[in-house]
Amino acid sequence: MQKRNILVTNALPYANGPIHIGHLVGYIQGDIWVRFQRMQGHHVHFICGSDAHGTPIMIKAQQLGMSPEQMVTEMGQQQLQDFHAFDVIFDNFYTTHSPENKALAEEIYQALVARDDIERKTIQQAFDAEKHMFLPDRFVKGTCPKCGALEQYGDNCEACGATYTPTELINPVSVLSGTTPIEKESEHLFFKLKNHQDKLRAWVTQGHLQPEVANKLLEWFDAGLQNWDISRDAPYFGFPIPGEDNKYFYVWLDAPVGYMASFKQYCESHPEINFDDYWRDDSHSELYHFIGKDIIYFHSLFWPAMLDGAGFRLPSGIYANGYLTVNGKKMSKSRGTFISAKHYLQHLEPEFLRYYYAAKLNQRIDDIDLNLEDFVARNNSDLIGKVINIASRCAGFINKRFDNKLASTLSDETVFAEFTAASNGIAELYETRQFSKLIRQVMELADRANQYIAEEQPWVQVKNPDTLAQAHKVCTLGLNCFRVIMVYLKPVLPALATKVEDFFQIEPLQWQDSQQALLNHSIETFKPLMQRITSEQIEAMQQAAVDAHAGEGIP
Ligand code: MSP
Ligand code: ZN
Repeated sequence: MQKRNILVTNALPYANGPIHIGHLVGYIQGDIWVRFQRMQGHHVHFICGSDAHGTPIMIKAQQLGMSPEQMVTEMGQQQLQDFHAFDVIFDNFYTTHSPENKALAEEIYQALVARDDIERKTIQQAFDAEKHMFLPDRFVKGTCPKCGALEQYGDNCEACGATYTPTELINPVSVLSGTTPIEKESEHLFFKLKNHQDKLRAWVTQGHLQPEVANKLLEWFDAGLQNWDISRDAPYFGFPIPGEDNKYFYVWLDAPVGYMASFKQYCESHPEINFDDYWRDDSHSELYHFIGKDIIYFHSLFWPAMLDGAGFRLPSGIYANGYLTVNGKKMSKSRGTFISAKHYLQHLEPEFLRYYYAAKLNQRIDDIDLNLEDFVARNNSDLIGKVINIASRCAGFINKRFDNKLASTLSDETVFAEFTAASNGIAELYETRQFSKLIRQVMELADRANQYIAEEQPWVQVKNPDTLAQAHKVCTLGLNCFRVIMVYLKPVLPALATKVEDFFQIEPLQWQDSQQALLNHSIETFKPLMQRITSEQIEAMQQAAVDAHAGEGIP
């Protein structure tokens, strides 16, 4: 088989808050895909980092009384710990506030300037005269001009969905000072996306994007692309724009460059990996970005235009996931559904969230719902009631009656053949990110194994010397079915897979291991692999989430 060289990135989380279960949808999705590719034997590099720049980060650091640099460093470490705890393991986790990123962002910008891709234009913007700073849309609040809803942000109304500019709000106020913003002029730099329209249109129609995303982009091309504002005025936490006074790159200019910078830093400590092989030359490597649906246009429009302008390769795929809702609604602090990674981990095993998301995720950008009751039922019935049940029904007999040793033949080769035969289909579903579908197929296999064991009744067979040998073979088949199921689930459940490898006393499972039975082999004594989830754990977690936000006065 041809070994692929694959670079995978996950969105760089803003370094102004902890990771929550909404973020984790995309990180778990990316991690599962990476683990699958590695089990196939491909070379995969998995890259992430903190997104350090922008006004919200600058303001948050001020509020905490620290420098943005310090906050970003501390927050980045905390986020990295959270990812680790969920077995989302990056090869490199860096920050956009790095010398590598500065150099690369400048290089790309200079290339755009040289191609005459940058234009200047004076614009009017909301300005806080007390704080002496221009206000991003989200830092202005007021009454919706369409429906009259109070306390709406300057970009859109949560009540009626209208979009507008902050100046259109009725009674606008600055979130920072409470004063009424004034209108002020300022010269900004714009990226002329139109210059890349033909190249992008060709790329968009080549299957690199989800169809619903590609269709939307094609509509935009037909309407004509607008220029993109890439500069912000001081004060701003970011990189100064070379050759300009008091102007900074807008955070979304250098944020995706952070993928390159993190990979560049990684290459510095891995001399066998060549940066240009992944970013300049697309003939022997693949590049994928896993992101959430709210940041699709930065990745599928602005980012490829930047890459194109600076002579870099374009991504092989951009894979967006939908937004997480909990119990059918937006995550909410007062309902206890705004659950941080930390609060989840205080009460529940990470594997359960990984499994539940896998069971819900597909290749589209539909939102996914975490229904907490269903979460309990599904994990308990699938993982404990079906999968682990196969092992716990068979292992005890092997341990007690057959001296911990698997038989040298299976009781029924055709049953095992059903398990090995599923390999290619399941692999294809991983490759195309149809996780929910593959989980259903694996659970059908688990049902099949349980049904077979129930028919054979090894617990009866062991009692009779005439059928004792059959019981040995039946339990050997059962454990082999379980082992193949764990091969198929290993990208989703790496920690469980490790325990299972220990139990079988085998090397880390690879995809090919689904094709042979393990026979005549000594195994360990079986220990319970997972505990059932209880509703008390869920209640305690929600209570912790409510308590954590008590007194903030935020819905
Ligand atoms: N910093 C940007 C990404 C820059 S990439 C060059 C950002 N950061 S974020 O912290 O707001 O979000 C990180 C990731 O989590 C993004 O992919 C975002 O879409 C995703 N999600 C944030 N909240 C989410 C949900 N509630 N549900 C699903 N994904 C969510 O965006
Ligand atoms: Zn409104």
